[in-house]
Amino acid sequence: MPNITVVLRDESRRTVEGVVGISVMEAIRDAGIDEMLALCGGCCSCATCHVIVENGAGNFAAIGEDENDLLDSSDHRTDRSRLSCQLIVADTAEDIVVRIAPED
Ligand code: FES
Repeated sequence: MPNITVVLRDESRRTVEGVVGISVMEAIRDAGIDEMLALCGGCCSCATCHVIVENGAGNFAAIGEDENDLLDSSDHRTDRSRLSCQLIVADTAEDIVVRIAPED
């Protein structure tokens, strides 16, 4: 299974197991990391699963229109911002590092 390195808001790092076919948000949540709210449960309607993809962006499909619009509502958007519920782990995924974005 691909591993995902998660940078928390205190700069500590956790490695979580990415299960093929589930989202990075679910992998983070299932690992018990609670600082990412993911309030809508992955429906692409809340933007509280915002992450900065520091490495491995090419593992994921391109950003969608709804995701792009939601990220525009964040004060902390960067050119590497994604909504982690929209990042589906593939079996070829490797070297993924995501930083949990500051809270809006
Ligand atoms: S969990 Fe709500 S947009 Fe990702």
